[in-house]
Amino acid sequence: MKNIYSNIFSFNKKTLNKSIVNLKKGNVVGLPTETVYGLGGNAYSKIAVKRIFDLKKRPKKNPLIVHYLNYKDADKDVVFNRDFYKLYKRFCPGPITFVLKKKNTSKIQSSVTAKLSTVAIRFPSHRITRSILKKLSFPLAMPSANLSSGISPVNAFDVSDEFKKKIKIIINSGNSKIGIESTVVSLVGKPKILRPGIIGLKTIKKFLKISAMKKSSKISGPGMLKKHYSPGIPVLLNKKKADKNCALITIGKKYKNKINSFNLSKNSDLKEAASNLYKTFRKIKKQGFKKIYVVKIPNHGPGIAINDRLRRASN
Ligand code: TXA
Ligand code: MG
Repeated sequence: MKNIYSNIFSFNKKTLNKSIVNLKKGNVVGLPTETVYGLGGNAYSKIAVKRIFDLKKRPKKNPLIVHYLNYKDADKDVVFNRDFYKLYKRFCPGPITFVLKKKNTSKIQSSVTAKLSTVAIRFPSHRITRSILKKLSFPLAMPSANLSSGISPVNAFDVSDEFKKKIKIIINSGNSKIGIESTVVSLVGKPKILRPGIIGLKTIKKFLKISAMKKSSKISGPGMLKKHYSPGIPVLLNKKKADKNCALITIGKKYKNKINSFNLSKNSDLKEAASNLYKTFRKIKKQGFKKIYVVKIPNHGPGIAINDRLRRASN
């Protein structure tokens, strides 16, 4: 039998070098981060960036996040401000992305930023991606490694399922620890959260004045498409039960174990629930259920990010 996962590699000196060589050539590589798996390519290379957009079938107007080892590396591409330093000091490296003004002298491809004057930057904490960044003289444009409008991959097999053999290297590092995408914060003008994540509004508010995105605004960022994070089957929210042929996503102890029920966290731990969300979506889809019902998820802490993804998935 052919090994459909032969493009998945564990991380060692050899695969580190293989990744570096490929990235330098303008190829893309599937990489683990603490949030979700990414599809990385040279942010300064037109061909690499085009490959990313083509592979994902991503609309050109949806800009990519550029990943750096540390702020010193980003200094040549973006204009820092006081709010940035405050949050960088507290949360980086980690699951937070900053939208800042792009420097005119920056070598970041204009396709990366969808021709905007701003750029989203992130400093991932994952050891593997950091050791790769350390060896590169350019930053990595790296969206989540899934087809556009689908759900993010949380392990190497998910990435391979999305792109099959169209990508040559995926580095395996088990399940992503956080399991949902980074918090996106705009620091251009009044600070604003564009995409909620595991680092929440309440936590960020301890360091600066910042507002949440308005629920009413349909699109909070250029790429914040309303239909996004879709598992490919209908998702219905705030349900209490589901028919046998539909899956029910639950949280907490009170739901009985049934073959069509999937518990995100028996202890109602919202962080754990977030880390299980996409995994559960994929599992349900693979098992052939035609619809997903979801019980009400508490809307605080990581629950805010979970509900954001669920709302979009249900659109
Ligand atoms: O956790 C993450 O952030 C993952 C890992 C791989 O780092 N990446 C990720 O990338 O989620 P992506 O491309 O799936 O999502 C990037 C989001 C999009 O919603 C995009 O619209 C927004 O960031 N974004 C990028 N550049 C922006 C900009 N200049 N202004 C506003 N939003 C921007
Ligand atoms: Mg994405």
